Amino acid sequence: MVEAVPVDAPIGAEIRGVDLSQDLDDASFAAVEAAFNEYSVVWFRGQTISAEQQVAFSERFGEIEVNAFNKFALPGNPKVLIVSNIKENGKDIGYADAGSHWHTDMSYTATPPRMTMLYAIEVPEENGKPLGDTLFASATAAYDTLPGDTKAKLDGLKATHRFAAKERGVKKPVELTAEQIAKNPDVIHPVARTHPITGRKALYVRAGECIGIPGMPDDEAIPLIKELSDRIIQPEFLYRHQWQVGDVLMWDNAAVQHWAPRDYEWPQRRRMHRTTVNGSVPF
Ligand code: SIN
Repeated sequence: MVEAVPVDAPIGAEIRGVDLSQDLDDASFAAVEAAFNEYSVVWFRGQTISAEQQVAFSERFGEIEVNAFNKFALPGNPKVLIVSNIKENGKDIGYADAGSHWHTDMSYTATPPRMTMLYAIEVPEENGKPLGDTLFASATAAYDTLPGDTKAKLDGLKATHRFAAKERGVKKPVELTAEQIAKNPDVIHPVARTHPITGRKALYVRAGECIGIPGMPDDEAIPLIKELSDRIIQPEFLYRHQWQVGDVLMWDNAAVQHWAPRDYEWPQRRRMHRTTVNGSVPF
């Protein structure tokens, strides 16, 4: 039986009673999807799945987005992105700095992803303690707890999101081609977006990725973006995931932001397989 066990945070639940290497019947999938919508970050421990099984499970949530950093696609399976610091013959085998700043995935696109999934294959550790945690912040709780007059002020405001890793404070930005940049013009999304399934509102801005608010002078817009970005990551809105090999974890990009602080270094090894599922136009 599928059981969701929430943690003591505004987001996050472990889902038990599911073996992702087997086909999930529709009722079990519906229970998993309901938990995902309710808790925004959900995970299954102790899984052993192939890339094909990860893709098949992800595709039950929607069509898979093939990532812009496709030079790190899993050989033979372009729907899976390798997120890893591992080097082979002196070269990165995966996207080493994915998630090295607070963000919500691909907000620089017109239809940002609904869901992102990571399958933990190798987790670094030191003295028996896992490293390479991922932090998640509830942008929904950050919105819910705003004073009414602030909510009213945000109503109708939109922010401009830009695809330009160098501006995001990423430690070692991935080199983007002119073609990748040209394919991703600036997009405008609501500062507070409504979840397309739950109807709950969440803050949807991030300093460094949002370059302004149309109709508002920059000297007002940039501090507002910064203030809201800082609010989202207040400790009371956070869940910190400590990885175990075999974890399959999914997050809801319409409800949370995430950050993977890098507290490990090669030759400590971290390898995740990531799938990303398309979403809809934020409103
Ligand atoms: C990501 O943001 O896609 C990766 C997060 C992580 O590696 O924990």
